[in-house]
This record gives sequence, structure tokens and C-alpha cells, in this order.
Amino acid sequence: MVLGIESSCDETAAAVVADGERILSSVVATQVLTHERFGGVVPELASREHLRKIVPVVQEAGRVASVGLEDIGGVAVTEGPGLIGSLLVGLVYGKALALSLEKPLVGVNHLEGHIHGVLLENKIARNRGQDVEEARFPNVTLVVSGGHTSLFRVEMQRSAVSSRQNAVGSDRAHGLPFAANSAPNAPIFSYTRLGQTRDDAAGEAFDKVAKLLALGYPGGPILDRLARSGNPHAVDFGRVRMKGNPLDFSFSGLKTAVLYRVRGTSLEVEAYQRRIWRESAGRATTTEEILSHCSQATLDLVASFQNAVVTDLMERTLAAADSCRVPCVFVSGGVACNSVLRERFVDAAKHTGLQIFFPSHALSTDNAAMIAAAGYYKLLAGQRADYSLTAHASLPLGSSR
Ligand code: KG4
Ligand code: ZN
Repeated sequence: MVLGIESSCDETAAAVVADGERILSSVVATQVLTHERFGGVVPELASREHLRKIVPVVQEAGRVASVGLEDIGGVAVTEGPGLIGSLLVGLVYGKALALSLEKPLVGVNHLEGHIHGVLLENKIARNRGQDVEEARFPNVTLVVSGGHTSLFRVEMQRSAVSSRQNAVGSDRAHGLPFAANSAPNAPIFSYTRLGQTRDDAAGEAFDKVAKLLALGYPGGPILDRLARSGNPHAVDFGRVRMKGNPLDFSFSGLKTAVLYRVRGTSLEVEAYQRRIWRESAGRATTTEEILSHCSQATLDLVASFQNAVVTDLMERTLAAADSCRVPCVFVSGGVACNSVLRERFVDAAKHTGLQIFFPSHALSTDNAAMIAAAGYYKLLAGQRADYSLTAHASLPLGSSR
């Protein structure tokens, strides 16, 4: 049983996962209400919220799983990338916990966590006896969220023999049992970066467009729901051509194109009125209420923007799968919840014969079960962090191509 801790952005999360495939608990304390009125995450407020929530959230994860923390096998904690102040809260807490309980500790890259969210979901579904194919490797994974838009080639190999890994110093240095043997046949994952965003992440673009149009926060789920009432072909935003690596992304131009379509037009007046109405409501407004405060032109713009983002994500991901010659695609991260993105990928799967895997919504957005699952395989492979483990705001995953 691995205790996972995640605090890289605006969710304080802890989970207990057994054997890397059974979620015994997954507790997520969201900070949406704290950041809502700013239309985006305020880093200093996020750190303070994590400080308030980290202890009760970890305790709750133990309580729901019905395990005492002394019974867990190890602690996996997000070490980056993310907001440095936020990361430090979970990381320092996890490190102190591992030290005091004398449990092995391992750091997990947040993006690796999102990739493992897909594998975990697949294992859960298959263990339940659901008729789903087995997720395979090598595959191409799209991690698409509020902070990231990246494509990876993911491979899995098995350790042949018991081997000593990361053995730095003696066992139990600083109270942490950190030099260990790899279990024979342990899965070892490796990652190659194929492309990434050069500016905004896709989720960030959703959030900024929603803020511009005064539609609420976080923008992704709201735009997703509103777009159902708009025409996705009303505005042609054109395709984004990337110089250099065609598997890189760029969403800032699209966001600016939306801004130019709004600025100085009746859409700007409408957004202003909506902002006043939402603020005077003094409470969370429902999709139906927001819908009744949107003109058809706004809904068409929203649907067209979403269509442009989804088409871009789809095309580059399918091109990556094609160039890597892999039969399997994983899609993960908060934007993987997008209903049109899912429909379009499922449709593409039918036409191309590719296998496409998405996690459930709970495992797509930030959570600690994915961190515990990724950490489980690292611990199994004998990886251990020592006392010097620290947080990194930017932490690339894997090697570049
Ligand atoms: O993975 P996540 O919880 O946190 C990060 O690591 O960033 O992703 C949050 C992001 C936000 O930008 C949110 O607007 C976006 O995911 N998101 C969506 C949807 N649900 C969440 N974007 C588009 N469509 C959705 N249905
Ligand atoms: Zn994330």
C-alpha cells in the first residue's frame, strides 16, 4: 500500500493505493472557491490553502482506506513540476511523514502521475470484469491540463533480475530506508518527450477565454457545457502551423484571436454585463443561468474556440502515434474530461484502429491516486528518494527525442 500526496497546483490530495491497482481512498480538497473570483490560481493563496488542508486530507485518506499510516508500505509525493510554494507543502509533509514512520519515500513527476492515471483506470476496469482492452506499451500519451500540454512516447520494460538501484549511502541513512533491491520482473517505465506547448497550456487557454467572456472558473468545464448550444463551425480560427517540431503546440495565438473578436464589439458589452450579474449574484451560478445570459454569437464563439483546440490536440496526437508507429494512445489531464475531445478521439479510434484510453474524470484531473500508482512502480523497481528530495517548479519528464 502506497500513500500518495499531491499538491502541485490548486488541489490538496492524498490517496492510498494497493498493488498499484486498487484505490482504497482518494481524497481531493479543491481550492476552486478560493481562486474563483480571480479567474485563475493565485500561487500565494494556493500555498496557504495547502498548509491548512494537508494534515486533514492525509488523515482522511487513511481513515477512508481503513489503514493506519504505520501500515503503509511507502510514501510517494509529487516533486514537480508545479507552483513551488504549493509543491513544497506536500513534499515536505510527505518527507517528514516517511522519516517519522521509517517508510521508503519516492518523488513522482506530476506528468508521470497523469500517465499512470490512465493505466490505473484500465486496471480498475479490468479487475471489475469490464469488457475493456488492456492498455499497452509502447504508446503515445497526451497530457493536457491547465499547466501542461505535452506528448510522450511511453515504454515499459521489465527488470530482468534483482538489481540495486539508486543506492546512495547506506540503508536507513537519515532514518529513511532508501537503498533497495528491485523486485524481479518489476515494470520500469521510460518516457521520450515528443512535443509540448511553447506558450499557454490548452486548459489555461480555456480558463483565459472563460475569464475574458466572464463565464466563470475553471473555464474548461463551463465552456464544454456552453459549447453544446453553439455552432463549432461559426468562426474559422485556421490551423496553427509550428515551425520546427510539428508535434509542439501553441495556444496563445488562438486566445488572442478570441480577444480580437470580442474587443470593441457587442460581445465585450455582453461580457461586462455578465460580470456585473455574476458578481451581484454573490453565489455560484449554474450553467443554465449563464446560458440565459449568453447571446448566440457568444455561444458560437465558445464552440468554435473549443473546436479549434480539440482539432489541434487530436491532429498532433494522431500524427505522433503515426510517426512512432504505436497502436495505442493515452489521453490524460484535466482537459481530457472535455466531452468533444473524448467523442472525437473515440471516433478517430474507429477509423484508424488505434486503441484510445482515457481515465475517468476523477483520475483525469489532479488527484493523488495517480501519484501513488506511479510511486508504487518506482518503489517496486527499487527507487528511493533520500532526505535531500526537494520540489522543482520545472521538472522535465523523460528524455527529449
Ligand atoms: O489536471 P488538472 O486538474 O490540473 C493541472 O494539472 O493543470 O487540469 C485542470 C484544467 C483546467 O484548466 C480546467 O479548465 C481544465 O483542466 N478542464 C477542462 C475540462 N475540465 C477541466 N478543459 C476542457 N474541458 C473540460 N471539460
Ligand atoms: Zn495535473
